[in-house]
Amino acid sequence: MQSYRQNLIFLITQPHLDLKTETEKFIAGLDSKVFAALFVDVSFLITALEFIDGQYWIEDLKNDGEEKKVVIAHFLKKFFKSELRPLLFFQSTLDGTSIYDIKFYQNTVLAIQKTIVSAAKQKPFPQSREFATTALNMMSELFEFEHQMTMKKNDLNQELDYTLYRSFDCLDECFNLNYKSEHPDTESRTIERIYLQSGVSVQSSYSALLMALRYVNLPSGSRFIDLGSGFGRVGITVGLLRPDIEFSGYEFVENRVNVATAAVKNLGLDKRVKFFQQDLSDQNFAFPEAETYYLYDPFTEETYKHIINKLTEVASRKKINVITKGNAKLHFLKAENIRTWSKPQEFRTGNFCLFRSN
Ligand SMILES: C[S@@+](CC[C@H](N)C(=O)[O-])C[C@H]1O[C@@H](n2cnc3c(N)ncnc32)[C@H](O)[C@@H]1O
Repeated sequence: MQSYRQNLIFLITQPHLDLKTETEKFIAGLDSKVFAALFVDVSFLITALEFIDGQYWIEDLKNDGEEKKVVIAHFLKKFFKSELRPLLFFQSTLDGTSIYDIKFYQNTVLAIQKTIVSAAKQKPFPQSREFATTALNMMSELFEFEHQMTMKKNDLNQELDYTLYRSFDCLDECFNLNYKSEHPDTESRTIERIYLQSGVSVQSSYSALLMALRYVNLPSGSRFIDLGSGFGRVGITVGLLRPDIEFSGYEFVENRVNVATAAVKNLGLDKRVKFFQQDLSDQNFAFPEAETYYLYDPFTEETYKHIINKLTEVASRKKINVITKGNAKLHFLKAENIRTWSKPQEFRTGNFCLFRSN
């Protein structure tokens, strides 16, 4: 087993440790790639321990009130062959454990994650970038694993009993994407869907984004525009995983543009990942050209009409891709100029759609 994992198990399982100090000492000596692997393991473990806790109670109910003890290591065996396979390194730790140990581990893993996130926030460039890129690549593998598991289960008319959908959200904290810094100063001059104070949920999920980047073939050397770029998750992810692509994000709320701009600067991405404050409903705005556009449910009905017309204009000159997430797809499907666009290709994960211009 990789030695960082042995240390991790020690930190998780030992009582009476000064956990914060010991974790800080341990991570201080790790290089950025191993540090990223640790972040991903710990974040997955938090979800997995919740899952194990839930499965324990289901197993216990089967005893129907009898005083029969559920042996955790036994009933979990089958899960380590399937949904918990990426955490095989943790299986033997569960030999002889009780549900009280599981609760203890849940708390220690959460505390370890907190210390990891504070250390990640302090990382300067280029370690910040190496950490983030490694973490995203590993997350992408896990989301693909989850996707394959879900499909297998669906074939058997079953469901996967955990989801990694929110498991890695605290990566935003590592990037200092501070939603709490939101100042509701946009007043009533707009009726746009700006979702003030709604934090992480205004972002595309990492799972949806990473799956889109896996399956949508973005041409090398092309330009990618996020229309309504929020706190910049899309730009950061595209910027880190596709160094061959130029990214621009346009966003109404100034504070979000500032938060996103500071994050890409710290990751050394600011030369090819840029964010601009712009009201995209402004009829006088010179609509920017790109090969791929991304829309996650940003606009009002009227602005959608305006933006889809602009996209259609670009599409009359060259072939483009439009990736929609959430309800943006419905606006496209009812657009007058729908014939400009191919039948959308739908992705099961994250309600994504890809429209290609004809
Ligand atoms: C649901 S969020 C999506 C954020 C990001 N694209 C993502 O997927 O993570 C939509 C964003 O569009 C922005 N928005 C809404 N109307 C806008 C407009 N007229 N011009 C520019 N941005 C706008 C909102 O402020 C919000 O941050």
